[in-house]
Amino acid sequence: MFQSLSALPADPILGLMASYRADSNPNKIDLGIGVYKNELGDTPIMTSVKKAEDIILKSQTTKTYVGPTGAADYNAIVGELLLGKSLLESLGKRRVTVQSPGGCGGLRLAAEFIKSANSDATVWVSNPTWANHVPLLGSAGLKIEQYPYYDYASHSVQFEEMIDCLSKIGSGDVVLLHGCCHNPCGADLSHEQWQRIRDVALQQGFTVFIDLAYQGLGDGLEEDVYGTRLLAETLPELIVVSSCSKNFGLYRERTGAMTLICDSDEATAVATTQIAAAARAMYSMPPDHGAAIVQLILNDSSLRQEWDAELTEMRNRINGLRAQFVKKIQSIGIPQDFSFIEREKGMFSFLGVNVDQVQSLVNDYSIYLVNSSRINVAGINDANIEYLATSLAAILKA
Ligand code: LMR
Repeated sequence: MFQSLSALPADPILGLMASYRADSNPNKIDLGIGVYKNELGDTPIMTSVKKAEDIILKSQTTKTYVGPTGAADYNAIVGELLLGKSLLESLGKRRVTVQSPGGCGGLRLAAEFIKSANSDATVWVSNPTWANHVPLLGSAGLKIEQYPYYDYASHSVQFEEMIDCLSKIGSGDVVLLHGCCHNPCGADLSHEQWQRIRDVALQQGFTVFIDLAYQGLGDGLEEDVYGTRLLAETLPELIVVSSCSKNFGLYRERTGAMTLICDSDEATAVATTQIAAAARAMYSMPPDHGAAIVQLILNDSSLRQEWDAELTEMRNRINGLRAQFVKKIQSIGIPQDFSFIEREKGMFSFLGVNVDQVQSLVNDYSIYLVNSSRINVAGINDANIEYLATSLAAILKA
């Protein structure tokens, strides 16, 4: 039976990790997968996470099952990190948060849930969007369409085109937005733009679905959820999938959540049974370790303070690198304007070079980035910035 299968190409993002590891060039640079890196190019475990792990190791008394919706204490505190205490209180039982196996697991869970609510739903994703959105949502059988988002010429959000498109989407369909730190382009929505999207969603009746994988890595923990909280406050329904992979550095522990707001307590109670059944059918229940760490950190004032400081350092480093890279590009005399990189947020920006130029960076210079020219800014450091800028100059001149 298995002879009929044909090999698939490597994943466009994960495949780069393997190529980078196999490259023996001492100058190689990894700007591929979105993981935070420090000045040494390492992705260390956060100190607050290490301390929490220590406590858990010593105090945990059972490994018994947690259930398809995960740990109640984790769900409560993650919901609070997302929405804040007062909004959480005012939403009451209209809101439910369910632990998921990472952001990907949360997205897949939400896709199953959407499918069970409306099997004809189309999910509208930004053009461009994260490469894995389409397989994750499409594998649940949902139709996918795109709305305009990023203008490659001006390096900014094509907001009027986006609004024009959203103004034609009706109820029963879903619009997926990036909560902050847009992946792959780094161009985020302003407060005014979030407000207009809220107005269009209210007028049109489509359901908004927010992917929030980078809370705390753009402008700050509170600042990065401006749009999410605005919509949670005002729309009758909302889906938010959040991830602890980046802001807690828990990548391999698969720690995330799906938060759902319905228009009544009763609707949320019914929806929760559907979400639990979908989780049970796919993976039974989410893994515990990462969630136990997050729960402990967020509920312990000293660990939380330490985590917040570490996250602030990560965010400041990324924002500093953006400015430093633009300065370096200018100082070596590259005539093209790359100042947009400093305006953009989070881990990613497009270099704005074509696929041949990307291939040249990968094959001739051992600089690994996604074909779209997306770079992980956190992969830049003092030791590689000169080589990166001069290689960029060389491919731009070629
Ligand atoms: C990325 O976009 O690089 C990250 O979100 C990692 C992934 O799973 O693709």
